[in-house]
Amino acid sequence: MNQVSGFSKLNKEQKIEWIQNMTGRDLSYFEKFDAGIIADQKRLEELSENTIGNFHMPYGLAPNFLINDDIYCVPMVIEESSVVAAASKAAKFWMNFGGFKAKVVSKTKVGHVHFTYEGYAGDLEEFFEIHKQDLLDEVKSFCENMEKRGGGVRSIDLIDKCHALDNYYQLELTFDTCDAMGANFINTVLETIAAKMLLISRNKYSSIDEDKLKINMSILSNYTPNCNVHVSVSANVDQIDEKFGQGFCKDFKRAIDIAKVDISRAVTHNKGIMNGVDAVILATGNDFRSVEACAHSYASRSGRYRSLSSCSVYDGKFTFEMSLPLSVGTVGGLTSLHPMAKESLHIMGNPNSDKLMKICAAVGLAQNFGAVSSLVTTGIQKGHMKMHLLNILNQLEATSMQIEEAKKYFADKIVSFSSVRDFLKVH
Ligand code: MEV
Repeated sequence: MNQVSGFSKLNKEQKIEWIQNMTGRDLSYFEKFDAGIIADQKRLEELSENTIGNFHMPYGLAPNFLINDDIYCVPMVIEESSVVAAASKAAKFWMNFGGFKAKVVSKTKVGHVHFTYEGYAGDLEEFFEIHKQDLLDEVKSFCENMEKRGGGVRSIDLIDKCHALDNYYQLELTFDTCDAMGANFINTVLETIAAKMLLISRNKYSSIDEDKLKINMSILSNYTPNCNVHVSVSANVDQIDEKFGQGFCKDFKRAIDIAKVDISRAVTHNKGIMNGVDAVILATGNDFRSVEACAHSYASRSGRYRSLSSCSVYDGKFTFEMSLPLSVGTVGGLTSLHPMAKESLHIMGNPNSDKLMKICAAVGLAQNFGAVSSLVTTGIQKGHMKMHLLNILNQLEATSMQIEEAKKYFADKIVSFSSVRDFLKVH
């Protein structure tokens, strides 16, 4: 992918032509994007029950993301104005300073068989030690494909949780699911292991009493702190202040520090990060609910909900960074079933899941940089209002001539629903 200048100034056809050149796709393919008609309705109907239609969302591109040594043009699905613009602007800005440095720190996922054992804990421990391998052998056939790709079950442990709840234990399994998000794989393994455990307990020579064992549930955990990516940008304070104004770095850091100590600000701050992350997660057909749930619980890992990103201004250097747990897939699930998701991956050069984690995190950090830099300088409304004006005009069913006139009229005025309505009464 190449760097591009003035992308936002191109009209839609020119944008499509650019991405068509970059990806080598046939032009007619992208023309269909307009109405989302590359999605086969029947296939969508098979995804979820009681389907009676589709729900369209804007599909945009944020070019110029330099992440490590590669440039990406990132597809984003989001209805909120200014998000794609802010991501693109921040990406282009950081490209001048070496772009985003991203690293997958770890990629382990976890799942549990939650169960009750009302007998002696020592018997359970003995049972587990004797039969651990039998439990793993039971899932060998399911793991074959995953193991061929380098993944599979990494560990199985018996966890005593009786301090938290009477007679509560877990079998905790860790997994590497390679490029798949892996929810189905993990849940199948867990349910099979739970059934095998129950079966072995029924053996009359078993060290545990089957009547005292009750499997409660078997399910993956969406809390994946060990499926984690780190992303950062850095530059000299002088260079950044030169662009944004004297004292910017200090003000920016202050805003991040506020989000570290104040929950009201932290939630909004992190929401801004997720504006970027979710938009890529949606565009690639990944599970935004699990990513959201995990990100916010991770933000509370110290026992207090805090900003996910951190900033340091030290020795003339500005560094802005974030660690984010992200369980995403680039194979299986919707990523291969939904044609738009498939196309999003194609536009990004078909990344593996490590690369997609890095891209999502970089977009999240860019989004956060864009939002906070607006907040501590011009305020957020200046950028927002341009698109908001258009939304209000459309709601009030303005003609294209009225829209053009309104754009000029409101260029230096405060936009509100009533001011636009009043404007339309006389124009
Ligand atoms: C709006 O969707 C997101 C922001 O509120 C984020 C922030 O305040 O940092 C602008």
